[in-house]
Formats: sequence, structure tokens, C-alpha cells
Amino acid sequence: MSIVPDSITIRRPDDWHVHLRDGAMLEGVAQYTARQFARAIVMPNLSPPVTTTALADAYRERILCAIEPGTHFTPLMTAYLTDATDPDDLADGFARGILTAAKLYPANATTNSAHGVSDIARLAPVLSRMQDIGMVLCIHGEVTDSDVDVFDREAVFIERHLSRILRHFPELKVVFEHITTQDAVQFVESAGPNVAATITPQHLHINRNAMLVGGIRPHAYCLPVAKRETHRLALRKAATSGSSRFFLGTDSAPHSREAKESACGCAGIFNAPYALESYLQVFADEGAFEQFEGFASLHGPAFYGLPVNEGTITLERAELVVPDTIDVGGAQLVPFHAGETLQWSIRR
Ligand code: DOR
Ligand code: ZN
Repeated sequence: MSIVPDSITIRRPDDWHVHLRDGAMLEGVAQYTARQFARAIVMPNLSPPVTTTALADAYRERILCAIEPGTHFTPLMTAYLTDATDPDDLADGFARGILTAAKLYPANATTNSAHGVSDIARLAPVLSRMQDIGMVLCIHGEVTDSDVDVFDREAVFIERHLSRILRHFPELKVVFEHITTQDAVQFVESAGPNVAATITPQHLHINRNAMLVGGIRPHAYCLPVAKRETHRLALRKAATSGSSRFFLGTDSAPHSREAKESACGCAGIFNAPYALESYLQVFADEGAFEQFEGFASLHGPAFYGLPVNEGTITLERAELVVPDTIDVGGAQLVPFHAGETLQWSIRR
């Protein structure tokens, strides 16, 4: 049996996938991310979406205004790819350090993705340019075909699209985001070093029963949806394996309580407030403390070609009760693990 330490200190981590929203919601949620993470890859699915370098630059300013003074936090911006994306604009934003990556949402795959890409084949000039300049493509990997079962949409995306993208652009840097299946783990493991994946805390903690057993539980609903237990176990193994191809990306995606508890509830889990504590619990349960720093703080920067952060963060073995709700700009949010007790807390 491995010995469980009383505390763990790691380099300050980054969140390689987060939704910070805009307006009052941004003002309310940004600090939860900024107080744990030095940097975050910020998703561009606002309404209207962040489709250009100019829009990303303006959004970046709004994020920086929402962060409490004295907090050191760098938002890493992404551009939302559409059928009309201009490769020159992407390359310009990347060269000027405004854009870090571009995001591919298949049209209508998830929240605010109506303007996403309707035909991936037509994206070839954009992907070719990104491959040339070494710009990361972040992918929401689910097909949207109505005849494909929602639980199969990630696996079918690999077959129909991801394999093909990498066949045509073998050097393109791809982050397969928020993976939820054993199929995705295997795909990433067998791909080249230019392919990596992020894993959320919820997909390490819950399977689809959490959403559907004993009543329908909207706060466990996100996209891609949690799958069956075999997949959760494969994700835990990958995350704690020490492989540099897997790293932290919370996909924290706040929606008001009313928007979630509805006849047509929004997809998204707000996990930012206790993300690190949640992840560490998984590594503790798997007896993989020594792999936690790699997953949280080292593999992401290495993949993106960025330096690791200065400074450290310490978590200690101390119980923490997650509140049932959190007030944000007049709205109530229900956080991931609401009402549960976690075993680790960030030392303040
Ligand atoms: O659950 C999700 N929520 N998945 C996504 O891909 C988008 C996100 C959101 O923006 O709410
Ligand atoms: Zn997301």
C-alpha cells in the first residue's frame, strides 16, 4: 500500500480548457479559475462567438478586468472556427501572441456551436496553415448526425473525422478535448506526439449512472456526456499513468440553476471552485500522487511549447464541504460535488 502524505506541493497548474463566459457571469466566475491556475485556455463559444483575432483581443481585456487586482492570471485565447475563418487572421493573431489555439466545434455539437464548422473537409486551408505555423487545434470531438446515438458520438468522430484530419495533416498539433471514452484514450496513445487530450474532473469521478439513476440529475449533465463505467476507468488510468499526452482541462461550464433544472437543461458542469481538490482526490484514490504534478502542471505547457509556471501550490489533507450553491452575479450556480465532502483543500 502506498503511503498517503499529509500534503502535496506542485508547480502552479494551468487549466487547458475552461468556459469563463462574459458579462456578469464572467465577473462572478473568473476568480475561481484565477486563484488556482496561472493560465487557462479560454473557450470562444460566447454568443456571438469569438471568431477573429480582434474579438479575442477584446475578450481577453474583459477577462483581465474581471480578475481581482494582484492575481497573476494569463488567459490564453482561442478563436472559434467557422466555415468562413480566414487563415491569415488566425496566423496574424498567433504571431502577435493574441491567439494560442483555435477551436473546432462541429456545428450544433454543443452550447453556442451553431456557427461551428459544417463541413470539416472545407477547413483544409485553415488546418494546413495551422500545421505550418505550429498552432494548436482544440477539438470538440463528437459527431452531430441525428442517427448516431449520443453515447457513441465521440467514438464515431474518431472514425469519421479525427483519423482523417490527422491523415491529411500528420504534423498538426491537436488537443482532443474532454475525452470520455476508452476509444479516445487508445486513439491518443497510438497517435504521434503531436496529439494529446484533456480530461475533466467529472469524467474521472462519474459515469452515466450519476445522471440517470434515482431520477434525472441535470447537474451531472455535460457534453460529451459521461459514459459507462469501463470508460471512466480507462480515463482514470490514462490521467494517472504519467503519460505526457494527457493533461488537465476542467471544461468548467457554468449555467444558472434555472437553465440546468429545466425541461431542456443546458449542458455543462461548473467545477471551477474546487477543481484541483477534485482532481487530487482521483490521484489519491489511485495511489498516484507522484503523477499529479505532471498531469496538472507539466504536460500541458510541454505540449503547447510554453514554460512551466513559477511558484507552487500546496494542497493538504483536510476535509472540505462543497456548498450546495454558489451565488454569481445574481444567479445561483450548483457546483460539481455540491453537498459532498472532499478530502483535500488548497492551503491558503
Ligand atoms: O457541457 C458542455 N458545456 N460541453 C461543451 O462542449 C460546452 C459547454 C458550455 O459551453 O456550456
Ligand atoms: Zn468545453
